[in-house]
Amino acid sequence: MRALLISRDSHLYSEIASQGAARVPPLHLAATRSSMRDALDRPETEIPQLVIVDASDIEPSEAGLLERLGRQYPSAHLMLLTDHHQPELLINAMRAGVREVLQLPLVHRAFHESMDRISAAAGVSAMRDGKVLAFIACKGGSGATFISTNFGYALATLAGKKVLLIDLHGQFGDAALYVSDQKPGMTLSDVCAQIARVDAPFLASCLVHVTEGFGVLAAADDPAQAKEARPEHIDTILRVARQHYDYVLLDVGRQIDAVSLRALDGTDTIYPVLQLALPDIRDARRLLDIFRSLGYVLDHIRLIVNRYEKGGKLRLQDLHAALGCEVVHTFPNDYVAVTDSVNQGVPVLQLSRSSAAARSLAEMVELVTALPVQESRGLFERLFGRADTDY
Ligand SMILES: Nc1ncnc2c1ncn2[C@@H]1O[C@H](COP(=O)(O)OP(=O)(O)O)[C@@H](O)[C@H]1O
Ligand SMILES: [Mg+2]
Repeated sequence: MRALLISRDSHLYSEIASQGAARVPPLHLAATRSSMRDALDRPETEIPQLVIVDASDIEPSEAGLLERLGRQYPSAHLMLLTDHHQPELLINAMRAGVREVLQLPLVHRAFHESMDRISAAAGVSAMRDGKVLAFIACKGGSGATFISTNFGYALATLAGKKVLLIDLHGQFGDAALYVSDQKPGMTLSDVCAQIARVDAPFLASCLVHVTEGFGVLAAADDPAQAKEARPEHIDTILRVARQHYDYVLLDVGRQIDAVSLRALDGTDTIYPVLQLALPDIRDARRLLDIFRSLGYVLDHIRLIVNRYEKGGKLRLQDLHAALGCEVVHTFPNDYVAVTDSVNQGVPVLQLSRSSAAARSLAEMVELVTALPVQESRGLFERLFGRADTDY
């Protein structure tokens, strides 16, 4: 959304610019004017959708200019920011059609609520309807963390999606380290401890930002803190996350507890990750039995076989027969590329673009986003830099 800010206050400008940038879709301060008179004298050629007027140093005699400003941009929404009680100004504001009046200093929550109302009235849909995908390891070391973190990066960079990954491990969560060298400033338990503050900008401020479109909410690094997370907190976080991200990925690990169950309740697809070996299949069966006993319908459960090598004794059909679930994707065993990536904390797509693991991630992006062939070709071209790639 394009906005014009009328203010002399450079701090206010930076504050609104940064709060605006964190919104979905972003609020863009396209132009500024120092006063209402300046704004009337120098009209914007490209009409703003929103005009924000800082009224803190408006003289009473200037109050009437608001109405003229309203007539100059009849299609724009007007927001008035005031730092003291100015009855004359408020009357003029009502005549000018101002519906949003906020107190200075700016209370960020009030600003975002006001922006939500303006966006809704302007028909700018601020809300996404994100999908929640859970990755659950059938056995320790199955590859759920590697796949979920690297798939998040692939969704963001190859398909331009906005992606959030939440590490739900109560203990030893390490998802952020698989794709970043930043130390998480905040974790899931910090977010839960301040659950009343959770909105999109707050959530964004708690993430390890791997790329512009991909953030990771790290797990608590102390098991005592992990107790902070309660099932109803997860509901709130997922509700906000769905509205502001295209995909919310959950690295569930192996533990089935109240928190992970609540998270799985709100999930669109559950991906148990396993390797094609008997111990993994046994554990996968146990996991599916738990789901059945909890009344989950298994049709939104899709198996991912990791470190798959063709020609092994066990075949994918055997797995399907044993577990009664569809295998949606297989990841190749790519020891060198994956180990390098995991050890360096750099996504495999970034580190080894032409590796088998990277290709497999790109295929999974196509599968999940169901990109049309045309676009998906572009995706492969972007990844491998050739138009003639034949897959
Ligand atoms: N497709 C793969 N090819 C080779 N090695 C892999 C692959 N997937 C995972 N690994 C290795 O297996 C290890 C365990 O993976 P991880 O994602 O941490 O498992 P989980 O989260 O299921 O416990 C990682 O350190 C990684 O090096
Ligand atoms: Mg893990």
